[in-house]
Amino acid sequence: MDSGKRKRVFSGIQPSGGLSLANYAGALRNFKALQYECDCVFCVVDLHAITVRQEPDVLQRNTYEALAIMLACGLDPERNIMFMQSHVPAHAEMAWILNCYTYCGELGRMTQFKEKSDRHSENVNVGLFDYPVLMAGDILLYKTDIVPVGADQKQHLELSRDLAIRFNNIYGDTLIVPEPYIPEVGARIMSLQEPEKKMSKSDENENAYILLVDPPDVIRRKIKRAVTDSDNRVVYLDEKPGVQNLMSIYSISTGMKIPDIEKEFETKGYGIFKDRVAEAVVELLGPIQDEFAHLVADRKYLESVMKAGAEKAECIAQKTLAKVYEKIGLLPRPK
Ligand code: TYM
Repeated sequence: MDSGKRKRVFSGIQPSGGLSLANYAGALRNFKALQYECDCVFCVVDLHAITVRQEPDVLQRNTYEALAIMLACGLDPERNIMFMQSHVPAHAEMAWILNCYTYCGELGRMTQFKEKSDRHSENVNVGLFDYPVLMAGDILLYKTDIVPVGADQKQHLELSRDLAIRFNNIYGDTLIVPEPYIPEVGARIMSLQEPEKKMSKSDENENAYILLVDPPDVIRRKIKRAVTDSDNRVVYLDEKPGVQNLMSIYSISTGMKIPDIEKEFETKGYGIFKDRVAEAVVELLGPIQDEFAHLVADRKYLESVMKAGAEKAECIAQKTLAKVYEKIGLLPRPK
């Protein structure tokens, strides 16, 4: 990263169900790496989560757990701003403003909207359609330079960029145009059962994903059952999506590069490969799970983190929002 002013990083994670190894691979592990060189803002995006129906008590529990797991993954609340999206009303306000600069056609083209409307055909609500605009608001409020995400969020990121550029073209330089930060390995972890589709914690088949809190025996079982092919060679090829996926998982768990993994398993078959992948994941998640168990039981501490985070986030967000209101021509509230 270039010298001079530290870059601002923003990213969010939904508290819908437990977080998965895919969330870790595509996002959390990069949050951890970026926290040392950038000014980072990490948000539990609870307002995004309600675009699909949530049980109130389950949502509350998941929200605490999402914060606890982010902390357990090594995010430092002293270094980073960590907070709940719904605690900073500027997010909803900014989304409204940006709505007025977004075309319905742009939102209708979003892959995630199309997928989720198929999956939740009984509840294709306006929030689901508008989801990427709320996300653009999240990012643009913090004058974000870099957004670490998995590959599935790239299209949403492009909309955020388009909206910033559009706003600046109308009103003059106001918003920063953010850059995506998508890792080379781990940006698209696939389902263990259907490796042509992405790993998602909302999959009906729980063998398709690994939760960060899955116990070791569950992790071993899920990896043993992972779909591969009949070829028995551990090589990183597009026509072997199941093997490719397990190799990516091994890479993010051990830090090894793909060619070195191919070498390690040159003379070994899928049995040994799967055993080692499982052990690597168990080893990666062990310390995170220990830390999580202790943090999640301490709601007072979690609340103190989210309170301090919301205060700091609000200061930054309010400044951007006030500038945006002024540029648009909304009157300041008389003092
Ligand atoms: P969410 O909660 O679905 O996922 C959180 C992060 O995990 C990444 N991810 C994956 N990475 C690799 N392989 C996968 N199979 C996989 N599945 C998920 C996601 O790309 C994401 O980085 N819309 C966002 C949340 C959000 C946000 C934001 C992100 C709201 N506002 C502003 C960045 C900036 C989402 O649904 O993430």
